[in-house]
Amino acid sequence: MQDLIKKYNVAGPRYTSYPTVPYWDDESFSYNRWQNTIQNSTNEDKAISLYIHLPFCESLCTFCACNKRITKRHSVELPYINALLKELDLYTILYGHKLTIKDIHLGGGTPTFFSPENLESLLKGIFKRAFIADDASFSFEGHPNNTTYEHLKLLHEYFFDRVSYGIQDYNPEVQKAINRKQSLEHVKYVTETARKIGYKSVGHDLIYGLPFQTVDHILNTIEKTIALKPDRIAFYSYAHTPWIKGNGQRGFNDADLPDAETKRLQYELGKTLLEENGYQEVGMDHFALVDDELCLALKDKTLHRNFMGYTTQHTRHLIGLGVSSISDAWFGFAQNEKNLEDYYKRLSENKIPVFRGHILTTEDLEIRTHILNLMTKFETDLSETRLNSKALNAIYENLETFIYDELIHIKKSKITVKQEAKAFIRNICMAFDLRLLRKKPQTQLFSMTI
Ligand SMILES: C[S@@+](CC[C@H](N)C(=O)[O-])C[C@H]1O[C@@H](n2cnc3c(N)ncnc32)[C@H](O)[C@@H]1O
Ligand code: SF4
Repeated sequence: MQDLIKKYNVAGPRYTSYPTVPYWDDESFSYNRWQNTIQNSTNEDKAISLYIHLPFCESLCTFCACNKRITKRHSVELPYINALLKELDLYTILYGHKLTIKDIHLGGGTPTFFSPENLESLLKGIFKRAFIADDASFSFEGHPNNTTYEHLKLLHEYFFDRVSYGIQDYNPEVQKAINRKQSLEHVKYVTETARKIGYKSVGHDLIYGLPFQTVDHILNTIEKTIALKPDRIAFYSYAHTPWIKGNGQRGFNDADLPDAETKRLQYELGKTLLEENGYQEVGMDHFALVDDELCLALKDKTLHRNFMGYTTQHTRHLIGLGVSSISDAWFGFAQNEKNLEDYYKRLSENKIPVFRGHILTTEDLEIRTHILNLMTKFETDLSETRLNSKALNAIYENLETFIYDELIHIKKSKITVKQEAKAFIRNICMAFDLRLLRKKPQTQLFSMTI
């Protein structure tokens, strides 16, 4: 295993999209093409998903790779909510009909930075502008330190029944290094309160590979987590990407991070402990109790993956509202302005605030499907491929190393990832990534795969 780790621990994408964002062809993209892509790939019966980015946080966690704006001024809330509703209005005009929403995810930053009253005005505004599908199920990311009973109650009244809390690690030394102090008692309170109110899925986010984190810290954090029995556990590998502007990954040195082998051990032993306690690995980074709908979807092969990670909701269109959000209309992607001031400026010009994107080619669409199959079903079938022989040969050539290492097997044209090879799924997907293959990055664009 250690030799495999050495061999496959390279910089690689997490494949929440294909092509991956650094490989978007901005030349192919224009505001008009984005509008056409939306209009040509939908009809009134199709429900959509909404991702809403709420970027504000009161303090900076030094590991954080999310798009965030640190402030203690809560006067930023209302102008931002008005901007989100304006953006929804612009999309409604573009679609040409009132939208039907099946899924809303509030992400961040910290959605619970906003007061319950302001979140209610956002949701009232959305519910006034759109229909809500009968099978709608909404979710949000809560920071345990500022999620209140009132937040949980209010959101539940608006069909939110899944919440995930950022935990990361309970060890005081690690918490100090990442500038994130939070107590087990409070996490227990917000977990149990969500359950009492009626949330059907409570998730905890943990990270391995953090500064000063040892294998024991991870196991200890998992033991504390298991005692609270969250339905889902995200077990993320720390993505160290200090070269991304605005990330704020500082306050510790590279030497304070566990080395690749320790990091892998943290994952392996963490995974074993989770599995011994009734959690099943759903896909990359995600574990859930066997009766959680994510596990059921994995079993039924209906699991889906998009920019928000793994989901059971299948919608062809995911509209991202808010600063830095990414929208996905299956045939094209677009990203909103990443800087708050630029985002407001574009909206003031009555423009959907996208600044870049990618319109998929026929080849992209096929590769996208294979990577999605691998990420969600751990298998894919090349038998009816429309890829040209050069592309196909390149993929088979790339897969040889995984056959040699007994990580996958190929029968006829069906590629199956072995159970014990799931940890290398990013590497296996890279074998299909024709854009990455044709143009190797000159600088480091992605975090390490292990
Ligand atoms: C937006 S935060 C969750 C909500 C809230 N802001 C909080 O911190 O509790 C999303 C999650 O992404 C994960 N995350 C952020 N930066 C990461 C990084 N560099 N590597 C791995 N996971 C990261 C963390 O587990 C975090 O809980
Ligand atoms: S981890 Fe959460 S609270 Fe911390 S800076 Fe990132 S988004 Fe904000």
